[in-house]
Amino acid sequence: MAILCAKLVQQRKLIGARYFNKGYATVVGPLNSTFNTPRDNEGHGSHTLSTAGGNFVAGASVFGLGNGTAKGGSPKARVAAYKVCWPPVGGNECFDADIVAAFDMAIHDGVDVLSVSLGGQPTPFFNDSVALGSFHAVKHGIVVVCSAGNSGPTAATVSNVAPWQITVGASTMDRDFRSYVVLGNKMRLEGQSLSPTALPSNKFYSLISAADAKAANVSAADALLCKNGTLDPRKVRGKILVCLRGENARVDKGEQALSAGAVGMVLANTELTGNEIIADAHVLPASHINFTNGVTVFTYTNSTKSPKAYITRATTLLSTKPAPFMAAFSSKGPNPITPEILKPDITAPGVSVIAAYTEAQAKTQDNSREPLLNASYSKATPFSYGAGHVHPNGAMDPGLVYDLTVNDYLDFICALGYNETQVSMFSDSPYSCPNPISLTNFNYPSITVPLLADSITVTRTLKNVGSPGTYKARVHEPSGISVLVKPKSLKFNKVGEEKSFNVTLKVKEANASKDYVFGKLIWSDEKHHVGSPIVVKAAYRN
Ligand SMILES: *[C@@H]1O[C@H](CO)[C@@H](O)[C@H](O)[C@H]1NC(C)=O
Ligand SMILES: *[C@@H]1O[C@H](CO)[C@@H](O)[C@H](O)[C@H]1NC(C)=O
Ligand SMILES: *[C@@H]1O[C@H](CO)[C@@H](O)[C@H](O)[C@H]1NC(C)=O
Ligand SMILES: *[C@@H]1O[C@H](CO)[C@@H](O)[C@H](O)[C@H]1NC(C)=O
Ligand SMILES: *[C@@H]1O[C@H](CO)[C@@H](O)[C@H](O)[C@H]1NC(C)=O
Ligand SMILES: *[C@@H]1O[C@H](CO)[C@@H](O)[C@H](O)[C@H]1NC(C)=O
Ligand SMILES: *[C@@H]1O[C@H](CO)[C@@H](O)[C@H](O)[C@H]1NC(C)=O
Ligand SMILES: *[C@@H]1O[C@H](CO)[C@@H](O)[C@H](O)[C@H]1NC(C)=O
Ligand SMILES: *[C@@H]1O[C@H](CO)[C@@H](O)[C@H](O)[C@H]1NC(C)=O
Ligand SMILES: *[C@@H]1O[C@H](CO)[C@@H](O)[C@H](O)[C@H]1NC(C)=O
Ligand SMILES: *[C@@H]1O[C@H](CO)[C@@H](O)[C@H](O)[C@H]1NC(C)=O
Repeated sequence: MAILCAKLVQQRKLIGARYFNKGYATVVGPLNSTFNTPRDNEGHGSHTLSTAGGNFVAGASVFGLGNGTAKGGSPKARVAAYKVCWPPVGGNECFDADIVAAFDMAIHDGVDVLSVSLGGQPTPFFNDSVALGSFHAVKHGIVVVCSAGNSGPTAATVSNVAPWQITVGASTMDRDFRSYVVLGNKMRLEGQSLSPTALPSNKFYSLISAADAKAANVSAADALLCKNGTLDPRKVRGKILVCLRGENARVDKGEQALSAGAVGMVLANTELTGNEIIADAHVLPASHINFTNGVTVFTYTNSTKSPKAYITRATTLLSTKPAPFMAAFSSKGPNPITPEILKPDITAPGVSVIAAYTEAQAKTQDNSREPLLNASYSKATPFSYGAGHVHPNGAMDPGLVYDLTVNDYLDFICALGYNETQVSMFSDSPYSCPNPISLTNFNYPSITVPLLADSITVTRTLKNVGSPGTYKARVHEPSGISVLVKPKSLKFNKVGEEKSFNVTLKVKEANASKDYVFGKLIWSDEKHHVGSPIVVKAAYRN
């Protein structure tokens, strides 16, 4: 699936695309010519690559929706693709040997940035091919940006959690693909859709709950989900079918509805999926509505003998509010390998992104995946978004940075207790670990203390990369935790100058929460705002 993509240093050195399948072949056996090409027949790699580095494309749209000029985050980048994922065998599609070979080649090719949209199960860094490959790339001065994963909103699902990787969560944009469901009783319910086809305007059709359209040999509960083989075409034909979300894929429900003869589909959320509604490219006119609107539709179908409705054609809405919001699918912290390192680091648009795709997929897939908010409309935490939404222009002039060297990363590995063999997987020459060594003062741009007994003092060092200036510390204390910064002000006279400060975190006796709490430290000269999340869990006390 995923592809490593990269921006090249040398102006004239053009690496188009490479593929790596020898690791895959050792498992699957001899491969034919369809595998001996970097050509993307799946779509994910083209999409992620063009999201990162796609050039300006005028008139880009999905069935006319979202029409406009599309571009990637860095539209003038020179890109190279390194394909390492192939059709799944035994649940695996990207093999370690191919991933590591691709990293080596990208390093050899002299890329500046690696964007890595793949990841696996949590495992120690010496056993993690993406972490190892990333480390060697970072040693060569390459910035490695990795996906947090699509396993949210469950806690501790984040992948690519090494501190030398920049781990990015997914959030929404201020754009909606809106389609209304209008009921016979004139109620107008807001939904989302990317259906390429639409019903005639304002013409009512009979509306039927899929539970009432069940085939004789199945349960109403299965039919309500619009699973294959559960619908009676005689009851469905010519009607708008109401299906419940869950179990089978959302787009599959539309396929079943169409195959049973429905002219349209209303897809209603369960209580669990709440407000998370998704614009899918359904095979028939359809609209996805939230849980409360779903209850309204079912109440209506139950209340009248001949329920009817229509679905409006999807339209593009811009400047929708609020935005961005965390995608529910975006994998979350705490970091399952090293809870002292906050992951993800940041969040960026990752929902309903119109980007390049392969023509080898006949249908336009659910590029958007699960969009939107925390489906319960609760406030997201740094375990979803890290330090927050990416601010690319601001990153050009950050003022101060928290610098880390390759030796800092090696010391970090030492602090994890890796033995000589394991450390040698990261270091080319024998590295002698400092003793003692702790994670506390590792100069990460966030401060995470997973088990705070009473108080702790952590040291961080800021490097000036802007003009001379005086920065003052501002603190939002996590609930129940006091935060003391010393000194409170840092004066930088020249570029490259480094200054250290201490942060003392202390559990306030009375009412400390037993769960993670979140705060923030901001160094500001009024022009630059250098923010660090503070994430603390007080140790359990009787
Ligand atoms: C190559 O292998 C794939 C998967 O096994 C198969 O679907 C395809 O038809 C083969 N192509 C050729 C040219 O043999
Ligand atoms: C997109 O917008 C452009 C410019 O307004 C227009 O020429 C083009 O026809 C539109 N494309 C679609 C598919 O609507
Ligand atoms: C290394 O990763 C593999 C595959 O994910 C796993 O089966 C194995 O247990 C891991 N080994 C260690 C030492 O964690
Ligand atoms: C469901 O969506 C409607 C808009 O159509 C909104 O008014 C309502 O508040 C949403 N439900 C919940 C529980 O937020
Ligand atoms: C129910 O019967 C139909 C044919 O009458 C069949 O196609 C379908 O697979 C059956 N469903 C189940 C769940 O057995
Ligand atoms: C339903 O399942 C059958 C058997 O797996 C398959 O042949 C058929 O194409 C499916 N129908 C739809 C509409 O997905
Ligand atoms: C509608 O009627 C069905 C079948 O009697 C019932 O299971 C369901 O709870 C009702 N839904 C609402 C929202 O009243
Ligand atoms: C949203 O956040 C609340 C509070 O932390 C949590 O209970 C809920 O499960 C979250 N929902 C999702 C979908 O992330
Ligand atoms: C390091 O640990 C691994 C796994 O337990 C072991 O195989 C290896 O021999 C150890 N190396 C040293 C130098 O202790
Ligand atoms: C920070 O704390 C360390 C010891 O914990 C101390 O040696 C150092 O002087 C302190 N630095 C500042 C700027 O307060
Ligand atoms: C602790 O008490 C303070 C002051 O009464 C209050 O503002 C804060 O919300 C409380 N924190 C917790 C975790 O209950």
